[in-house]
Amino acid sequence: MKAQIKTDIPGPKSLELTSRRSKSVANGHGSVCGVYIDKAEGSNLIDVDGNVFIDFAGGIGTMNVGHSHPQILGAIKKQITQFIHPCFTVAPYELYIKLAKRLSDLVPITDSCKAAFFNSGAEAVENAVKISKSYTRRNGVLVFSHGFHGRTQMTMSMTYKEDPYKKGFGPFVKNIYRLDFPEKKLDLSNLKFDPNTIACLVIEPVAGEGGFIPVSKEAMVSIRKFCDKYSILMVADEVQTGFGRTGTLFAMEQFGVEADIFTLAKSIAGGLPLSAVIGKSVIMDAAHVGGIGGTYGGNPVACAAALAVLDVMEEENLPERSLFIGSIICKNINSIKDQCPWIGGVRGLGAMQGIVIINPNNGEADKERTSRIHRYALEKGLIMITAGTYGNIIRTLMPLNIGKDELNQSVKILSDALINA
Ligand SMILES: Cc1ncc(COP(=O)(O)O)c(C=O)c1O
Repeated sequence: MKAQIKTDIPGPKSLELTSRRSKSVANGHGSVCGVYIDKAEGSNLIDVDGNVFIDFAGGIGTMNVGHSHPQILGAIKKQITQFIHPCFTVAPYELYIKLAKRLSDLVPITDSCKAAFFNSGAEAVENAVKISKSYTRRNGVLVFSHGFHGRTQMTMSMTYKEDPYKKGFGPFVKNIYRLDFPEKKLDLSNLKFDPNTIACLVIEPVAGEGGFIPVSKEAMVSIRKFCDKYSILMVADEVQTGFGRTGTLFAMEQFGVEADIFTLAKSIAGGLPLSAVIGKSVIMDAAHVGGIGGTYGGNPVACAAALAVLDVMEEENLPERSLFIGSIICKNINSIKDQCPWIGGVRGLGAMQGIVIINPNNGEADKERTSRIHRYALEKGLIMITAGTYGNIIRTLMPLNIGKDELNQSVKILSDALINA
């Protein structure tokens, strides 16, 4: 459905909810758009005032298969009539095993793999670190500038951006070290740690929250070599890049080297809370029984949804469609670049594209204009989110099966916003 705006944005019913929210919801949990959602279908979000939006945020990358996909809904409905949660730690069930096998076969690791399931991206990263520590018997963790790995104590400590993610929340976990983000090359000069103490290096193939910055192929190869040299486990944090977003099912398929462990979440289960750590069996088995897990990890309804997501990915050829969407976005942005000296560039992989907004006078990040672009698009019916350590990246995380008309309309709104805001 095309975007259709009927009221001021936010409309009166959304404003009323904002007022109620301010009395009952903690301030710390912010929302980017002040519109409240009543229904979601395909690439559309429909708010409580009847405004129809096109969704370029996709629940921050959880909706690669689109909202309310009939196959995902069917799988969820079937599962909830069977059982909802016996808890895998207590009374296990086949769905968990099926999903573990299917994902273990799909991740781009040649060795045999095993999986364990959790609830959020942060939990997956935490557990990848725990497993790495068990396997290597070391306790150091190596991460990068612009990295985002979550909001728990460990993952917040691994995350780069101070405000809002870390501000006032210290002290942070020790033994976490940081290198410059390897956009072009891996810079190993001036190491401030002993590589022999590092259990794992955690890298996003495309920095997500940090600003949609892809790692160069050359740098990824250097990372693999560095890890091999010091027996460090290489963890690919594909929480945001996974499930077709970058043009392949997993972004690491495009780098010509293999990670040892993957962390997955977001689009894994079509919007239900599920995350996974998948890695070489010998590594995954290093943590002792009871050392990993959790009450809700691998919830059967989420596992059923995840199996359906994998079917949809295959049947609708979504990774390939991601390449097409990415090319349309890039073509359009490049075609208006001359009119918009504040467009510093467009970067990413597949449909994970970030538009860099700068001050043309000095080349610095322009967060204010980025916010204006966001606001303009919202008022015309396009929901987007921004990203970046400096808050100056417009990012695209639309459902990958977005229709042609919706894609054309949203690209037009985006271009208008970039030109006029
Ligand atoms: C690369 C990456 N890792 C980890 C996380 C944390 O995921 P969650 O918010 O589900 O805890 C995110 C979330 O944006 C992410 O993009």
